[in-house]
Amino acid sequence: MTHTASLNSVVRLSDYKPYPFSIPSISLDFCIEERLVQVTSSLQVEPLADSQPLILRGVDLELLSIQLDGKVLDAADFVLDGSLLRIPAPPLQPFTLTTVCRIDPHANTSLEGLYASGGMLTTQCEAEGFRRITLHPDRPDVLSRYRVRIEADRQRFPVLLSNGNALSQGPLSGDPSRHEAIWDDPYLKPSYLFALVAGDLREVRDHFVTRSGREVALRLHVEPGDEPYTSHAMDSLKRSMAWDEKVYGLEYDLDEFNTVAVRHFNMGAMENKSLNIFNSKLVLADAETATDGELERIESVVAHEYFHNWSGNRITCRDWFQLSLKEGLTVFRDQCFTADLHSAGLKRIEDASMLRNSQFREDAGPTAHPVKPDAYQAIDNFYTTTIYEKGAELIRMLRTLLGEERFMAGMRLYFQRHDGEAATTDDFVAAILEGASADRDELGFDPEQFKRWYHQAGTPTVQIHRAWDASTGELTLRFRQSTPPTPGQPEKQPLVIPLLWALLGPNGEPGEERLLVLDQEEETLVLEGLSPSARPPALSLFRRFSAPVHWQAVQDVDELFLLFAHDDDPFARWDAGQQLWRTLLLARASGTRDSDLEQRMLEALRGLLAIEGESDPAVLATLLAFPGGAELEALQKEADPPALFQAACGLRECLGRVLAPLLHQRLEALAPQLSQAWPLGQGERQLTAVIWSWLAAAGDGAVWAQALAAVHGPSMTLARAALRALLPIDCSEREMALQCFYDRWQERPVILDGWFALEAATPRTDGLARVEALLAHPRFDPMAPNAVRAVLGGLAGNPLVFHAANGSGYRFMAAQIIQVDQRNAITASRMAKVFSRWRSYAPERQALVKQALDQLAAAELSTNTREVVALMQQG
Ligand code: PHE
Ligand code: ZN
Repeated sequence: MTHTASLNSVVRLSDYKPYPFSIPSISLDFCIEERLVQVTSSLQVEPLADSQPLILRGVDLELLSIQLDGKVLDAADFVLDGSLLRIPAPPLQPFTLTTVCRIDPHANTSLEGLYASGGMLTTQCEAEGFRRITLHPDRPDVLSRYRVRIEADRQRFPVLLSNGNALSQGPLSGDPSRHEAIWDDPYLKPSYLFALVAGDLREVRDHFVTRSGREVALRLHVEPGDEPYTSHAMDSLKRSMAWDEKVYGLEYDLDEFNTVAVRHFNMGAMENKSLNIFNSKLVLADAETATDGELERIESVVAHEYFHNWSGNRITCRDWFQLSLKEGLTVFRDQCFTADLHSAGLKRIEDASMLRNSQFREDAGPTAHPVKPDAYQAIDNFYTTTIYEKGAELIRMLRTLLGEERFMAGMRLYFQRHDGEAATTDDFVAAILEGASADRDELGFDPEQFKRWYHQAGTPTVQIHRAWDASTGELTLRFRQSTPPTPGQPEKQPLVIPLLWALLGPNGEPGEERLLVLDQEEETLVLEGLSPSARPPALSLFRRFSAPVHWQAVQDVDELFLLFAHDDDPFARWDAGQQLWRTLLLARASGTRDSDLEQRMLEALRGLLAIEGESDPAVLATLLAFPGGAELEALQKEADPPALFQAACGLRECLGRVLAPLLHQRLEALAPQLSQAWPLGQGERQLTAVIWSWLAAAGDGAVWAQALAAVHGPSMTLARAALRALLPIDCSEREMALQCFYDRWQERPVILDGWFALEAATPRTDGLARVEALLAHPRFDPMAPNAVRAVLGGLAGNPLVFHAANGSGYRFMAAQIIQVDQRNAITASRMAKVFSRWRSYAPERQALVKQALDQLAAAELSTNTREVVALMQQG
């Protein structure tokens, strides 16, 4: 059966109906042959309703036979229609349906279902990949117990893995060149959590003792030669297991936990029950081969996938509209984990910045959608930052509104009540509120109104107006909230917005933090009895980034500098600086430098950079970081990425030149700490990176040489920081540094992806020709999404080349996306979103992007990419 994708077939939440059968158990038999794999599946089917047709899905399967209770089905008893198999009148009693299909994993370039990566076979079933393995309803509310037998050549596939417990493994009696393994997973699970891996893999073993004293075998499987790079991932896993026990009281529930690293993978990693499969770039790492940022990310993704064992696997999603039930919650849990292990304040800043630069952008564009969408064409397009990160923000707001203790009581009830079920986001909110035993009146907000956050797309804006009576000490704050229209949602309603705020003393002394719940379109807060003075007390707003909203600053410049120097909330302090940086960069981008403000900023920076200034290097580096390009584009009347790029280069040059003595002094002070192993030394390295980028921009030859030397050095963090500092500068050190990095790491694909990305992002006059050469490079693997994303993503992040005034960058990107789409629809449709902001550009630029979109629309595209392109054309 083949996949005849019906165009524009929309799946709607309102059409949800329970599946009319249950399938309590499934037995799968995989016979791995030279090229093909034969899959025999036996489903135990129990009708739940009277006389319903049985509908199963299958894509790219060669159906060899189909039997019902051991009897071959007559051609008249079933209908095959594209990817649907229909048995119009199945028995009204429980029965067994056995199908035999043949699949070709080597021809499968989609990286969904069963596919080959290097010499191994591996699976990816979320969201709808199981139908590429065998005939099945393939929907998350059908939960079954799986028993799996795998048979393969012993030499080529010495390792045979699936979910659950290994029951047996051994040679086949008839044929000593082959062996088999049998796996049984005692937990009910949906088909998207099924996994199988067969290959010549090396195992790294460790163990974890749960708090109830059970020993869990932890096994990490990698390609031969990669064993030395596994200890960070393994340690991260043990920390995650301990954290979930300590914080949520949740223990691991099987005797073994397997993780496999795979080079060809569409996403970051996958939480298959007891057999997590990871993109190899999120496993293989140490300080020499990965940056501090990557080490932290690996730790958090390992935690994320592990945490899914409860938030996702034990409690799964009823349907894909509930995706944020598991993803938003699991992101929230991994954010808390990282905050606990490292710095809560800095983690919050990272997450806020990420949200502003990717989720807010999504929310403001043609692919905007609610955390709980109500319709989709291709579910793969909904693995978005809105579902993940905005979803996590909603849970965080619930915690802020309820308070930590009551919130955690709610979480406990959720895990208890829905264990073993396929649940909805409504179930989640209900359990949290009930467990928090908050009665409606003392709650302080209306739960139904809170739930609008799940349904309403777009980022709300809170406008704030302040009036200060200097003689009486009365402060009046007026708030007005609004959410802009988004595709399909012209009208918006007021949301429940938790606002954490404080008033600082005249010299920045911390004040008491308070919660204000905004739930009306307009409301007013009056504070009486403050000490009368000429200036109002400094306002610290949306502390800890208490809601995922935009707000308009009411503070004047003096106040912002005061907050930037003293606010005790790390987020609010950083945000005050961001407001100032934004103003400076936008002014430069529009060709009118704000010299007064630049002078004041230089003054403030002198204070911070002085050795007696800000003493925490990580905090300082964060305060010095410019706002992201996406955030700035959104604030321009006509988004102009090249102008913003030039503005940032110009400002760095100015800072590097004027502050050179202080910057060098800091660099020297940081040097002794640079070689400490992560997480130690990371703040020092981060600050060194910022300083290098400023001094390099100012043409400091000594720093160019230092940067070049770092590319040869022992720290990947510093090597990459050096390359980033040199990248915008047309100098021989840059070329030598790139070459040296290549020479050093050419044998290591995961690291070389970083080189591909840097090369593609280098602003050269012949940039596009260079990108073409990268795509034809002998070490470029077009089947590896990481490599494709490195080059095309690098190009998209190269404003001068991608946004070239003649439109060549756009046309090139469109042509590439069309090619990638033929092999891998998921990677292509994600990449197509690089065009999503086109309506915000100047008319000439819009016309050029429109040509590229028309070029895409005229091509033969997958459902996934077609859906994204159509949205962008409309929006
Ligand atoms: N569910 C995976 C996660 O943890 C992401 C994923 C989705 C991976 C779809 C592969 C395919 O977030
Ligand atoms: Zn996840």
